Amino acid sequence: MSLQYKFPEDFWWGSATSATQIEGAACEGGKGENIWDYWYSKEPNRFFDEVGPETTSDFYHQYKEDIIRMKDIGHNTFRFSISWSRLIPGGEGQVNQHAVNFYNDMINELLKNNIEPFLNLFHFDMPKELQDIGGFENRKVLELFKDYAKKCYELFGDRVKKWFTFNEPIVPVEGGYLYDFHYPNIVDARRAFQVGYNTMIANALAIREFRNHSIEGGQIGIILNLTPSYPRSQNPADLEASQMADLFFNRSFLDPAVLGEFPEDLIEVLKKHGQLPTFELADKALLKENTVDLLGINYYQPRRVKAKEHLPNPYGPFMPDWYFDNYEMPGRKMNKYRGWEIYEKGIYDILINLKDNYGNIDSFISENGMGVQDEGRFIENGKIQDDYRISFIEGHLKWLHQAIEEGCNSKGYHLWSFMDNWSWLNAYKNRYGFFSVDLKTKKRTAKKSAYWIKEVSKNNGF
Ligand code: BG6
Repeated sequence: MSLQYKFPEDFWWGSATSATQIEGAACEGGKGENIWDYWYSKEPNRFFDEVGPETTSDFYHQYKEDIIRMKDIGHNTFRFSISWSRLIPGGEGQVNQHAVNFYNDMINELLKNNIEPFLNLFHFDMPKELQDIGGFENRKVLELFKDYAKKCYELFGDRVKKWFTFNEPIVPVEGGYLYDFHYPNIVDARRAFQVGYNTMIANALAIREFRNHSIEGGQIGIILNLTPSYPRSQNPADLEASQMADLFFNRSFLDPAVLGEFPEDLIEVLKKHGQLPTFELADKALLKENTVDLLGINYYQPRRVKAKEHLPNPYGPFMPDWYFDNYEMPGRKMNKYRGWEIYEKGIYDILINLKDNYGNIDSFISENGMGVQDEGRFIENGKIQDDYRISFIEGHLKWLHQAIEEGCNSKGYHLWSFMDNWSWLNAYKNRYGFFSVDLKTKKRTAKKSAYWIKEVSKNNGF
């Protein structure tokens, strides 16, 4: 068969998930409480339709059948996260044997089905007890994270070769400490930068531990949501705005993860506003010596910015947004359900930037996807005809293919997500899966895109 877009041999086809969003069983199997369980118990009104994280998509009970479904649609790789509060309730101390059994069995099932497990250690779900002592603001929690990582290497490192420390470490910073969309709902830039800084120290500590553990053939990485910043125009003021947005939202994590240092201009600007985090002298060398082997890129939308229209309120809390305004480009293509622009070429721009400025590090698209509301409207002949998702994926794959043709080191493409899952505040409002999930019965049904990706993965292209 002649294909227009053929991908490199051994390309990773698969999908990504996270523990809190799919496992359910939040109060089963000895799991401890995490911040999501807690926040929902206090303020269910913050969650769409007041649906909380208790049962989500029931992967905890249905993983065996789900893994068969993954295999059936051509997955050769699958990303999941370990729930820290399930493995080590309270975040420190004894390991929970039920959790060890669950994760062991799930990993074994994946391998039995020739699906390589990609294991992520942290996806927004801080154990409640550790949040109570300050979460990542507290250096003690960084040490506990390292211990947790070590425990995971010991337990699963004989079979898992692809490891990730964090998924989108900037999101808990933005949500929890700047913009009020994650617990603990603090609005304080200095504390936000402290959490961001400390998270990258935790990343380096976990990487150092990984190197000590020497997992044969293992690679460790981080997963970042990179949002290329496009200026409204070439006017110097717009260009400056886009550089600042890029500094705050991309380079703040990309530089320490890949180059082992925070950008000088970020340090300068934080100093200027009196927002510099505290640090320890040994941090600099730790960061430099412990960079990632592999980069996961989550890409959903670009960031379009322009110079500020008005001066920021000098009495308001400092925000990165003091340096730019968001720009709504006329004619932009939107996913109106999620409120995100769709701009396929962004994937290419990210990869070219990595090639030119970050040593062309090994990477893959670790998340990309389209959340759509009320997908039941599109059912015909018993299945959701999600042609919009197919063209969304195709559009991104074309640009990914182009980047690879031009020498970018991209190894795979994972959709968010395998099946519909629970999202942080939106709960089940927008659906992302190749498989739909009936919220009452938890029954899975393949959407049209599941049949489509099966062919694409089988042919290694389209
Ligand atoms: C990514 C996260 O930001 O986007 C996922 O890693 C998340 O956890 C996904 O679910 C989609 O975003 P949302 O907010 O629509 O669930």
